[in-house]
Amino acid sequence: MPDLEQALVISNNEVGPSLFEMELAASQTVPLCQPGQFVHLRVSSTHDPLLRRPLSLYDVDKNRGTITLLYKIAGRGTDLLSRTQAGSYIDIMGPLGRPFSFPTAGKTVVLVGGGVGIAPLLYLARQLMEKGYGVKVLYGSQSSRELVALPRFQQLGVEIETAAWDLESGYQGLVTDLLAERISGQNIGFLYTCGPEPMMAKVAEYARRYNLKGELSLEQHMACGVGACLGCARKLADRDSHYVKVCKDGPVFGLDEVEVN
Ligand SMILES: Cc1cc2nc3c(=O)[nH]c(=O)nc-3n(C[C@H](O)[C@H](O)[C@H](O)COP(=O)(O)OP(=O)(O)OC[C@H]3O[C@@H](n4cnc5c(N)ncnc54)[C@H](O)[C@@H]3O)c2cc1C
Ligand code: FES
Repeated sequence: MPDLEQALVISNNEVGPSLFEMELAASQTVPLCQPGQFVHLRVSSTHDPLLRRPLSLYDVDKNRGTITLLYKIAGRGTDLLSRTQAGSYIDIMGPLGRPFSFPTAGKTVVLVGGGVGIAPLLYLARQLMEKGYGVKVLYGSQSSRELVALPRFQQLGVEIETAAWDLESGYQGLVTDLLAERISGQNIGFLYTCGPEPMMAKVAEYARRYNLKGELSLEQHMACGVGACLGCARKLADRDSHYVKVCKDGPVFGLDEVEVN
C-alpha cells in the first residue's frame, strides 16, 4: 500500500491565469520524493469527487519537509483544490510513479517544458544542478503571462530560454521551433520533456534526427494511481497490443517508448 499523509497546506496562491502554486508540509512523503514522481491528492474533504487527482512534484525542500505543486484549473477537481485554504489539511498519496533517470554523458542536458508541463522539470533541474550537470531549459507557453515558473528557474541559476507568441524579449513562437532552430543536437547529452503531447512528439522527432536519448512525462487520465485499475493504459510504441500503466510504469518513459499523439 502506498504511503498516505495528511499534509498541511502552507500556502495556495494564484500565480498566473488559472495557475496556482500550493506548498504542503509533508514530512513523511518528502524523504522519498524523486523528480518525475507525482502525488495523488484528495481534492476535497468529502468523497466527492471520489477519484484523487495526480499532480507532479514541482519542487521539494528536504530540509523544510515541504512539497510545492504547480497546477492549472482544468475542471472540477482542480477548481476545488484552488479553493483550499492555508492551514487546512489535504490527503496525499505518494510519491508515486517512475522518476526521471540521470544520464551518464557529460554533455549539457536540455529540458523542454510546455505550459503547466514545466512542473516536473523544476525539481529535476534542481537535482541535475546539484549533481553537476550542465542544464539548459527551454520553456514555452501560449502567452507570456503563463510563464510563471520562470523566476524559480532563474533562482536556480540554470540557463533558460522562453518561447511564447507575445514575448517582447525571448523567442516568439513555439518552444519546439526554438529547439529546432537554435539548439544544435550535437551538443546535447540527454533530453527531457513534459507538456502537451504534440509538443512532446516534436521533441521526440528532434531526438531521432540527432540520435539522442531522452525521457518524457505523460499526463494521462488516472483513477487508482497505483496500478490496480487499468484506468491509465497506454500503448507501447513498437509493439502491437502491448500496454503499460502510466501510473506505475510511468509517468516517465523513454522518448520513443510509448505512442504520443
Ligand atoms: C502524472 C501526472 C502528473 C500531473 N501533473 C500535473 C501538474 O503538475 N500540474 C497540473 O496542472 N496538472 C497535472 N496533471 C494533470 C492533472 O492531473 C489534471 O489536470 C487534473 O487531474 C484534472 O482534474 P479536474 O478534476 O480539475 O478536471 P476534470 O474535470 O477531471 O477534467 C477537466 C478536463 O480535462 C481533461 N483531463 C482531465 N485530466 C486529464 C489528463 N490527465 N490528461 C488530459 N486531459 C485531462 C478532461 O477530459 C476534461 O476535459 C498531471 C497528470 C498526471 C497523470
Ligand atoms: S490509474 Fe489505475 S492502473 Fe493506473
